[in-house]
Amino acid sequence: MGKKVTVVGAGFYGSTTAQRLAEYDVFDTVVITDIVEGKPAGLALDLNQSRAIEGFETKVVGVTTGPNGEGYESIEGSDVVVITAGLPRKPGMSRMDLLETNAKIVRQVAENVAKYAPNAVVIVVSNPLDEMTALAQLATQFPKNRVLGQAGMLDTARFSNFVAEALNVPVASVRTLTLGSHGDTMVPVPSKSTVNGKPLRDAMPAEQIEELVVKTRNGGAEVVALLKTGSAYYAPSAAAARMAKAVAEDSGEVMPVCAWVDGEYGISGVYLGVEAEIGAEGVKRVVETDLDADERASLLEAAEAVRAKQGDISSM
Ligand code: LAC
Repeated sequence: MGKKVTVVGAGFYGSTTAQRLAEYDVFDTVVITDIVEGKPAGLALDLNQSRAIEGFETKVVGVTTGPNGEGYESIEGSDVVVITAGLPRKPGMSRMDLLETNAKIVRQVAENVAKYAPNAVVIVVSNPLDEMTALAQLATQFPKNRVLGQAGMLDTARFSNFVAEALNVPVASVRTLTLGSHGDTMVPVPSKSTVNGKPLRDAMPAEQIEELVVKTRNGGAEVVALLKTGSAYYAPSAAAARMAKAVAEDSGEVMPVCAWVDGEYGISGVYLGVEAEIGAEGVKRVVETDLDADERASLLEAAEAVRAKQGDISSM
């Protein structure tokens, strides 16, 4: 049977994710939903009108959903649901400032996803990311491997871009990694970062790596400060769409994602940015990598910071 993916939320993040998913041409159907009347239908119409030019057969369906779950029947049979619903940051805000507002939105969406697409893999991108991923799992009651969050791929892509720019080398020659939270306790991993297969630490001094680490951690905020009316979406949607594709194709690709950690790195019972093998069932396996002592310590710190916040969300 053909694959179906739903993107909840037709803002810039949702609409660019839907566009990328449609242009991959691996799904039969891309559903995009929003609470705004007409907007998802308009975007779907527009995207479908690009099919003859871009050369994809995927059909895009746009649906407005109501406060009592009206419209959610359109997501039935989805293999993957990407939740982008919620507010983005405004300049000066931290992702955590969105916690209460987005918790209400994400909970309601997740409950409808559980009702209408009970077999879907859920990819959460709403912020604060680690907390919203945990909340979506609570609200759906899906097995933890079937709920994951997008952040690590984005943070890693930012880190790689900054390294490539700093060294003036092709971005394809750079491999980096970030783990931990999608926030203040993000953990860039220089020990696993390479340029043309050689350690990043041999390619630039420690202080410069640290500068790029800080730039990576602030990568999203820097975009928010410039846009003034929203947050980043090109790089975020690229990451989310790749994850959805990996699920649809059961690719087994290893990606940095927000996943439920159960003993890896000596950490348990928390959603955290780690590397994982992605496939039809969501997270097939968390992949533990060797870390330096200080990177490992930062990851433990991130886990405890996220755990403290995730404890609060059960009541939201
Ligand atoms: C960012 C938002 C999407 O990092 O979290 O740009």
